[in-house]
Amino acid sequence: MAQVKVGVVGLGAWGRNVARCLHELNECDLVACCDTNPASRALAELNWNVKTCETLDEMLERYPSIQAIVISSPAITHYPLAKKALLADKDVFVEKPFTLEVAHAEELLHLSEVRDRVLMVGHLMEYHPAVNYIRDLVRSGELGDIYYVYTQRVNLGRIRGDENALWSFAPHDISQILYMLGGTPTDVSARGQSFIQKSIEDVVFLSLYFSNRVMAHIHISWLDPHKVRSTTIVGSKKMVVFDDAATSEKLRIYDSRAEMHPTTSYGEATQVRFGDIHIPRISSTEPLKIEFQHFLDCVVRRLRPRSDAYDGLQVVRILDSAQRSLDMDGIPVALQPEEERLHAPSLPSKNRSWRPAPDVPISLPAFAYMPELSQKVPQ
Ligand SMILES: NC(=O)c1ccc[n+]([C@@H]2O[C@H](COP(=O)([O-])OP(=O)(O)OC[C@H]3O[C@@H](n4cnc5c(N)ncnc54)[C@H](O)[C@@H]3O)[C@@H](O)[C@H]2O)c1
Repeated sequence: MAQVKVGVVGLGAWGRNVARCLHELNECDLVACCDTNPASRALAELNWNVKTCETLDEMLERYPSIQAIVISSPAITHYPLAKKALLADKDVFVEKPFTLEVAHAEELLHLSEVRDRVLMVGHLMEYHPAVNYIRDLVRSGELGDIYYVYTQRVNLGRIRGDENALWSFAPHDISQILYMLGGTPTDVSARGQSFIQKSIEDVVFLSLYFSNRVMAHIHISWLDPHKVRSTTIVGSKKMVVFDDAATSEKLRIYDSRAEMHPTTSYGEATQVRFGDIHIPRISSTEPLKIEFQHFLDCVVRRLRPRSDAYDGLQVVRILDSAQRSLDMDGIPVALQPEEERLHAPSLPSKNRSWRPAPDVPISLPAFAYMPELSQKVPQ
């Protein structure tokens, strides 16, 4: 595979991980990195012997051979930097959250289509081997009908001053849930509190409701004594627990369920089954590597990424609705149905292909809607 010439924007706590990963990939030629902080630039020069610049403008000017820009700077910079990179005709990877406003996500999506650029959003969980294993279980029907899902992403950790815990953490959980279930929520509600800084929620409890009665609950916090990264899925046949903080045996599949059984005397009675617990072998490949390999592959083969700009927009729409609910102390906020959005004037008609409407079964392949870039990405 040809090497893709890449430039990275933002070399902070996460950006260093991003640059390290790209530096290690054979498919990537890490041409340059930029960061407004001189100490971060010095570290990158030392670690990866890479050229550095202060700004994206400077990097675009000095290294015109760069084909793809990876944006790992703070969330508020994502929209202007991604727009600049797309207007310079670069393929673009943007870390989560894609943007902080729905209109900005729509604009970037449109721009990428008009200019025929790859635009991928860093929804890392969609590249996690365990999440893909669960997705296959859901789609094969092995879990039965999905009843509900809940996730916990909590620790005592990096308390951000520029975004709340919802926008910082929930893109992971929302994208993971949509990817595993393949559907779209009809409405969301969120409650949370700001304890440490005024108006920046440290803890949020977010609920998503789907029209097929599936519920998902997301608990996020950077003010918690435990480091927990877990997902539980309850189906009519089996249940699954995914513990991403565990070093091994991250996935457990419980052959457990509750059922109604006919009885002679009382009509029907509930019966609970506690069956075997299966621990499948899951690849330990770093999800970040899989994610960037996919991005580079999409750049070379001109494919639409799995976590494309539609995916990013969908998550931003949910975050935006959740924020409105949070501001109203938990009052549910309905998401505009897909059919209405299809006829909304905010996007030009070209390439307007949305995810399945909310009332389609969640077993429907999530990528059935995929239109251009040129062909469907193999799953
Ligand atoms: N995918 C994941 O698992 C994951 C994990 C953590 C963070 N993130 C995301 O990565 C991004 C960066 O997070 P972080 O924790 O590294 O933040 P950070 O604050 O530690 O680092 C941001 C860096 O960007 C630089 N910067 C700011 N504005 C810039 C600009 N205009 N041009 C160039 N550089 C600029 C800063 O100097 C800093 O070095 C955020 O969007 C965050 O949400 C993703």
